[in-house]
Amino acid sequence: MVQIAVLGYGTVGSGVVEVIEKNKDMVNKKSAQELNVKYILDLREFPGDPYADRVIHDFDRILEDPEVTILCETMGGVGAAYQFTKAALERGKSVCTSNKELVAKHGPELLKIAKAHSCNYLFEASVGGGIPIIRPLNYSLTAEKIEAVTGILNGTTNYILTKMEKEGADFDTVLKEAQEKGYAERNPEADVEGYDACRKVAILSSLMMGKNVNSEHIFTEGITRIAADDFCYMNALGKSIKLLAMSRAIDEDSALTMVAPFVIDKQHPLAMVNDVYNAVFVTGNMLGDSMYYGRGAGKLPTASAVVSDVVDCARHPGRVIMCFWDEEEVKLLDVAESERSFFVRVKDCPAGSGRLNELFGSGDLIRLPGRSADVGYITPVIKEKDFLSSYEKLGDTALGRIRIFS
Ligand code: HSE
Repeated sequence: MVQIAVLGYGTVGSGVVEVIEKNKDMVNKKSAQELNVKYILDLREFPGDPYADRVIHDFDRILEDPEVTILCETMGGVGAAYQFTKAALERGKSVCTSNKELVAKHGPELLKIAKAHSCNYLFEASVGGGIPIIRPLNYSLTAEKIEAVTGILNGTTNYILTKMEKEGADFDTVLKEAQEKGYAERNPEADVEGYDACRKVAILSSLMMGKNVNSEHIFTEGITRIAADDFCYMNALGKSIKLLAMSRAIDEDSALTMVAPFVIDKQHPLAMVNDVYNAVFVTGNMLGDSMYYGRGAGKLPTASAVVSDVVDCARHPGRVIMCFWDEEEVKLLDVAESERSFFVRVKDCPAGSGRLNELFGSGDLIRLPGRSADVGYITPVIKEKDFLSSYEKLGDTALGRIRIFS
């Protein structure tokens, strides 16, 4: 029997217990032994809960119990979660986590400690919830040189953008409705400003590069400036707007990594990812493109990914599972130096495309029938810093700009 401790009995932690119970026949068979949740660590009591007798408040009981060999860290944060994870790994106890913040911040250090103590730090649930993406990157696509990962990694923002596109509603209205339905947090900053997606792409690009991509250095822009009017143009152009978290390997030591809303062709597989769904589009040099799609959040999908890591640990006691993620930092290219086209929306003015062409070079003006307040414009491929300095010159005639994905 494998004894497990669950740290944090919140949404994901209780999901872990539920998955182990509901799928026990399958999970035990695949683990080649029975899994048992011996302890649940939480500050709270859970009277009436079927697992109430396993709830404890002292982490040292878990640390000092030699029977417990696998911990599920579903607490979140980088304080106690970091201390507990480190202490457990130093005792040779494996840790399976959904905590993207901790993985993004201390991943390489914790992996090193795990390796030194012949145990594992596994984090399948930290990116894309229930979607298998860490395992494919670590040990399915091992014959590939991964050239790029591009993901829709945040369900809340994808839900908001999908609603804006389908209903023509503005950002504030959709956000409010999403909050009322419980799809968006009361404090939505981490989602709508792109910070959540930033941590997740830091993890994916670190695995792509085999070296550390520091999330604090990733260019991150959220979706708060996307307007309902932008979608009028997108619908006419056969395009969509998605918050993309992307990383392109430039060479072995450097990458272009960023999070921002992008205009994307409706035919692109990522444009078809709607509502709260997530997807990761991986480009390998032999396989070409592959995409991993599914539920990127939620109690049971995320818990399922945590338990899949538990099964991996139970199945391979004493074996260190392959993961290349060194502490050496990847050099991140300055986004200002990168080149692409941009969609611009400006107040309609007599000078029309003449002024726009003067500023951006020769682009395409888009005038929609029945609209007189604004016009759209697609710039030619241009360096981001040059685009921004020209865009500023539009002054208060500028109504919005969005990068175009290619
Ligand atoms: N807030 C996140 C999302 C939850 O909306 O995708 C999963 O990390």
